[in-house]
Amino acid sequence: MDIEDEKKIVAKKALKFVKPSTIVGLGSGSTAAYFIEALGKLAKKKKLKIKCVATSKESERIAKKVGLKIVALEKADKIDVDIDGADKIDNQRIIIKGMGGALTREKYVASISRKFVVIADHRKFVKDLRKEKVIVPVEVLPFAVNNVKKELKKLGAKTKMRKKNKRIFVTDNGNYIIDSEFRKIKNFKKMAVKLNNIPGVVENGIFLFKGVKVIRPKNLF
Ligand code: 5RP
Repeated sequence: MDIEDEKKIVAKKALKFVKPSTIVGLGSGSTAAYFIEALGKLAKKKKLKIKCVATSKESERIAKKVGLKIVALEKADKIDVDIDGADKIDNQRIIIKGMGGALTREKYVASISRKFVVIADHRKFVKDLRKEKVIVPVEVLPFAVNNVKKELKKLGAKTKMRKKNKRIFVTDNGNYIIDSEFRKIKNFKKMAVKLNNIPGVVENGIFLFKGVKVIRPKNLF
């Protein structure tokens, strides 16, 4: 099956988690974009009174285009369900996010959500991330980039500044991203703490949430 079709299918499947009169977290990236479009159609058809919290300017733009009501992140207290994409997921529910650059808002929104639902096409699934080479996006304050790179190297990472159209990529928060490649991470929980303990690091792309629901294309593993 075509990858875009897989994304559309998992996006549509996630609609079942949206109940009337609730607050919905909108993830970022192409799979989340399919979900936002499908949610816009459903909300219109069923006259669902839902409010949405977006994890990026782009998701907010798409949501507004399809007629969804947006609540500002700072006004969102609790979110009922957050639906988002992923870059890697394994059988222990270790999730890597941030290839779209929205990891900080995405992690924040997931953390204040009662339910976190991840939607992903088959390419994102691996059995055990602890046995894989992994790239963890790390959002960094611009002035701290050089020192953070040194600290990341001490942790064993090969570092690469995120670029877009040959220019340094700037997140919605005005920060930079260092894509940090690790040959192996034995303990993701410890690594996530170590990364966030580096002065100048805003957030990292290791997502470890209990009870996360994962929607994947059928017949995988
Ligand atoms: C953005 C993300 C995205 O959810 C992730 O990169 C997946 O994107 P896509 O659905 O386009 O593959 O974490 O920061």
